[in-house]
Amino acid sequence: MGSACFRWLVKQGHEPIAYDDLSQGNAPAVPGDCLVVGDIADRRKLASVFVDHGIEAVMHFAAVASVPESIQQPELYYRINVVGTKCVLDAMSEAGVKRIVFSSTAATYGFNTTMPIHEDAAQIPETPYGSTKLAAEWMIREYAHAYGMGYAVLRYFNAAGADLDGMHGEDRRHESHLIPLILLAAVGRHPAVKIFGENYYTPDGTCVRDYIHVSDLAQAHQLAVEAIQPGFGEAYNLGSGHGFSVLEVLDACEKQVGHAIPRQAAPRRAGDPPVLVASSRKITDQLGWSPRFSDIEQIVATAWQWHRSHPDGYGGTSRGQRSESA
Ligand code: UFG
Repeated sequence: MGSACFRWLVKQGHEPIAYDDLSQGNAPAVPGDCLVVGDIADRRKLASVFVDHGIEAVMHFAAVASVPESIQQPELYYRINVVGTKCVLDAMSEAGVKRIVFSSTAATYGFNTTMPIHEDAAQIPETPYGSTKLAAEWMIREYAHAYGMGYAVLRYFNAAGADLDGMHGEDRRHESHLIPLILLAAVGRHPAVKIFGENYYTPDGTCVRDYIHVSDLAQAHQLAVEAIQPGFGEAYNLGSGHGFSVLEVLDACEKQVGHAIPRQAAPRRAGDPPVLVASSRKITDQLGWSPRFSDIEQIVATAWQWHRSHPDGYGGTSRGQRSESA
């Protein structure tokens, strides 16, 4: 998500710098020589990058973001998502940077929330991933209050799709997300798509999600960063407002690729809520955001264009084997 946002900001006339340890990100996804390789845990380096580049605002994407992995390895999730966010905030304080946009998640809400989810729904995370993102949200709010910062928390639902020009898309060391896994199966890089649970209390028995195109997410980041002033502090849900089941996404992918894609039934995956659908009315009303690229056909079409033209992704990693941000 960070690199998609970077490219969007450049097109809008901003001058971003990317800071990434490349443990999950891909250097070729960042155009030009705007990438500083570093760890968010290295507070001194981060603070000097902020000062040296005259940074005015931070968009904090760096995270580990797999729900099942967070259940297996909570230590990793608290270290990167909570302690890492503290390092970013401390470096900002040290360098005098006063604006932050934070990538949060629908996973901060409880499983039994009424759909669509509004921002004032109870935040009762049910997985370590959700808990660590909520802890980071609270830390940002309290730092902002104490140190005169402004912030926007963006709670993504299911980020998906690829750049409209077909040149950039998802390429993770270990892929766990539905759409790229379906398309990897479509090109024969995976034997079959596993359907994690077919007996949920949903219309067709499979989980329902709200897929939102990365370019729409990128635009929300731009609007948020442009709105933030010291004292500004808001959280916004980012989704299309429409839910699609696993089977509906599979159908959309089959239509796009023009042939059947092998599938197999599998047990439910730990930590999966049955349904997640956003209300994004708040950011539409307050910042004028409206998703333009997030109908499921366009999401799948852009993802397919990327997968088909870049079967080896960015080429530096083995496809289909770890995940980017929320
Ligand atoms: N799924 C499959 N087979 C797969 C992969 C996924 O059936 O091979 C299903 C999942 O069970 C889920 C849906 O497809 O029902 C989407 O799964 P993803 O892994 O693509 O995404 P998640 O729904 O797990 O992730 C989203 C958001 C996170 C949020 C999380 C909360 O991206 O930010 O939901 O559960 F934290």
